[in-house]
Amino acid sequence: MAEEFVTIEINDQPVQARKGAMLIEVADKHGVVIPRFCYHKKLSVAANCRMCLVEMEKSFKVVPACATPVNAGMKFWTRSEKAKNAQKAIMEFLLINHPLDCPICDQGGECELQDVSVGYGSTKSQYAEIKRVVQDKDIGALIETEMTRCIQCTRCVRFGDEIAGMREMGGVGRGDRLEIGTYIEKTLKSELSGNVIDLCPVGALTAKPSRYKARAWELQAHDAIAPHDCVGSHLQVHTFRKEVVRAVPRENDAINECWISDRDRFSYQGIASADRITKPMLKRDGHWYEASWQQALEATADILRTADPARTGALANATSTVEELYLFQRLMRGLNIRNIDHRLRQTDFSDQNAAPICPSLGMPIAQLEQQNAVFLIGSNVRQEQPLLNHRLRKAALKGAQVMALNPRAFAFNYAVTQQAVAPAEMLQALQAIVNDPENGVMAALKQAEHATVLLGNVATQHPDFAVLRALAYTLAEQTGATFGYLVESANSVGAWVAGVVPHRLSAGRELKQPGVPVSEFLNENTRTFVLLNTELADFGNPQQAATALSAADNVIVIAPFADETTRQFATVLLPGSTFAETSGTFCNVASQWQSFKGTTQPPGEARPTWKVLRVLGNSVGVPEFDWVATEEIVAELHLELDGVETCSNTYRAAVTASVSAVSPDGFQRIGDVEMYRVDPLVRRAKALQAMMPTAVVHLNPQDAASMGIAAGDAVKVSQGAAAITLPAQLDEGIPVGCAGVQSGLEVSNVLGAAFGALQITKAG
Ligand code: SF4
Ligand code: FES
Repeated sequence: MAEEFVTIEINDQPVQARKGAMLIEVADKHGVVIPRFCYHKKLSVAANCRMCLVEMEKSFKVVPACATPVNAGMKFWTRSEKAKNAQKAIMEFLLINHPLDCPICDQGGECELQDVSVGYGSTKSQYAEIKRVVQDKDIGALIETEMTRCIQCTRCVRFGDEIAGMREMGGVGRGDRLEIGTYIEKTLKSELSGNVIDLCPVGALTAKPSRYKARAWELQAHDAIAPHDCVGSHLQVHTFRKEVVRAVPRENDAINECWISDRDRFSYQGIASADRITKPMLKRDGHWYEASWQQALEATADILRTADPARTGALANATSTVEELYLFQRLMRGLNIRNIDHRLRQTDFSDQNAAPICPSLGMPIAQLEQQNAVFLIGSNVRQEQPLLNHRLRKAALKGAQVMALNPRAFAFNYAVTQQAVAPAEMLQALQAIVNDPENGVMAALKQAEHATVLLGNVATQHPDFAVLRALAYTLAEQTGATFGYLVESANSVGAWVAGVVPHRLSAGRELKQPGVPVSEFLNENTRTFVLLNTELADFGNPQQAATALSAADNVIVIAPFADETTRQFATVLLPGSTFAETSGTFCNVASQWQSFKGTTQPPGEARPTWKVLRVLGNSVGVPEFDWVATEEIVAELHLELDGVETCSNTYRAAVTASVSAVSPDGFQRIGDVEMYRVDPLVRRAKALQAMMPTAVVHLNPQDAASMGIAAGDAVKVSQGAAAITLPAQLDEGIPVGCAGVQSGLEVSNVLGAAFGALQITKAG
């Protein structure tokens, strides 16, 4: 229905407004400032603070601008005597119980209450009684509370209900006894919980990890792009004396709106990790020595020049920038090294020649919320891409039918019709959907005006990925749904485009002599490895990676960090940069190229990684390796991409296998990656690590009963030669015959394939 516009007057000026819009929205749009606390454009209207009172024609009383819909001919005054008196009185009431501790409040200098008080309050208070005190709550490692400062605007409460989809905070008591706190759980568990810090208009909820690090006015703000998932959320990174001390969202309605995930907000803590490499290091006779850059580069160049290219493997993490990835593959190919890959957690590469030039969502991110039917295949989207999950949740709340086929029942925060089948049965389950026109999934996708079939990270890491993809594509074609991918890392799309795959050059160009995928060269036959921003926990099969890397003659690591394990197998450490210490580009799941500048310097002698690669290229004598800025590298890649259709997910491989590649022996492992263990930076963020649940093995109660295992019992989990002991957790969402042991955990890093076979026995 077409929107109707009306003319109203604000402060004697005529303005056009959408009929029925709240006055505060109209005022915001026309630059008229109305003070507010409880109103927030992304939340429902509560109208409980009364700070937005304005004068309205023909109204004896002042009215709240956030709860007054406009109609033709209405007249308002926001700064008349009547309005000002009302605003002043409300401000006085709000300050009755608010402590005057601004000098020691972390919100000081960026506090809405402080600002509005200066602009609209009185210089004195008539209140001379004792102020009330509210006990603080410990709500976890991310958010600090000072609940005496709370003005009960309920933004945090509504956020939990309306955006995070978890009723974690609420009000208890009435009137001046009303207190905001957590309902049942003591800790906020939502993956978006940190957004309440930005929403809270006072210093009641502040960021615990950055508390008291600096005053707001001492911080320098830098634009950045979040480095963890494929959304590419817009960040503002704040530095104090060149140290990153905070990350907050930068508003962009097309991508992250005004939210960010906790992972994107708090992972900056990892930048200052104790295992940063701050000097180039060389290993001789089993001992590490510090080296000058020249020595280290010469030693690295010698290794690369003398290594047998056919027995050299180059692996990059897709959290690297486009520029780093592009130089990495140019350098390797310049040395005739063909075994190049970034798909560290993937195991099935059988259809890679039919894969699109780069996998993408198939639509702009914001369009996800317009979908009427969504089918997720192998996706824990809530943990993997929290802000895409938020868009899907919006769609679901508007009535979209969201369906999922997963190897275990993942916890969604909206209604999802989820089919959880063992990994070995996913293929048949999807086949059954595709073959049956009467199937509910098929029918819902067909009937919907806007429908999409999305392949998630779990599907990509599944041993039957190629068949799952082929079936998913067929399903999308048969139903007229859009086919898309929810890719893994901040720059998975960029890694494809940059050519960090063994079978294609950058821009998807054909390669006459392709290399083999990671699963085929991650073995003892490969004598030299070059790792870009990659460590053991990034592999889908850390056991296989550890064996191959430990057996190699040389392992060259170019990365900001090196943990103990890396130091054991590496022979050269070249210190690089994190996302905050380099300029670069990430390409998100909607194929949006987002470039950013460096926020601060890498520590010690570490250098921006693209520069390390560039100089290394010169050292080994690769021709035409002389870029002077990251912009030049991206420009070159764009030239290569001229006329290339990158956004198409068209896929033309025949479905061949009908038997699953998942091993039928023992328990089928479901090894999805824990959300705070996905990449090196987040694994080093202390506050996020403190939020991790205890590592457990999830078992179906039926299996547990048959083995005499009760919840909490110690269970021996063996995979190949490795065995670990974990407490059991009984979970109806785990299919019978399966065991949920997440990947990326410190304890599970000794295990093998994420979807391999496990032996489970009661320990002791
Ligand atoms: S804690 Fe902050 S956001 Fe929540 S109700 Fe109080 S003032 Fe509002
Ligand atoms: S902003 Fe209008 S009542 Fe709070």
